[in-house]
Amino acid sequence: MSTKIVLIGFMGSGKSSVGRRLAKQKSTFFLDTDALIESAEGKSISDIFHDEDEAYFRNLEDKTVSWLKSNVNKAVISAGGGMLVHCKELKDLGTIVYLKVPFKTILSRMTVQELEKRPLFKDIAEAEKTYNERDAIYEKLADVVIDANTTINTILDRLNQEKL
Ligand code: S3P
Repeated sequence: MSTKIVLIGFMGSGKSSVGRRLAKQKSTFFLDTDALIESAEGKSISDIFHDEDEAYFRNLEDKTVSWLKSNVNKAVISAGGGMLVHCKELKDLGTIVYLKVPFKTILSRMTVQELEKRPLFKDIAEAEKTYNERDAIYEKLADVVIDANTTINTILDRLNQEKL
């Protein structure tokens, strides 16, 4: 299997929290595509969407995947929730792991600050529609699907059982 583990899933599905812990377990580094983009642009995701547009952001995501492909050998990577849908190259970046969490749980976990960081979560009904469309795509394209509607320790146990 690839030495890059790519966590995918909807906004708020726990990719960053799980990814950080998993990377530690595997004695490697955790990378977050949103954080890489924010660092490269010198502004938050919200400001990028506000100052430019979604197409501009998706182009940055494409560039990020190309860079990760050429420059990173081993890592746990959290991919922004739209990447698998918008960015064809992502599928080949590494072992794709879908952290599947019901929309209801995601909503209950979202704080005001978390919502503010995510421009595509402003309209809850629209976000639920996007969730339903993406869930099928995530399921289809992921190498591994983890039921992540549980505690972080159980998610890590489930990931370890997969021998990634
Ligand atoms: C997005 C998810 C966000 C971020 C951007 C767009 C999406 O990342 O990339 O706001 O299209 O689902 P997270 O999934 O890490 O919140």
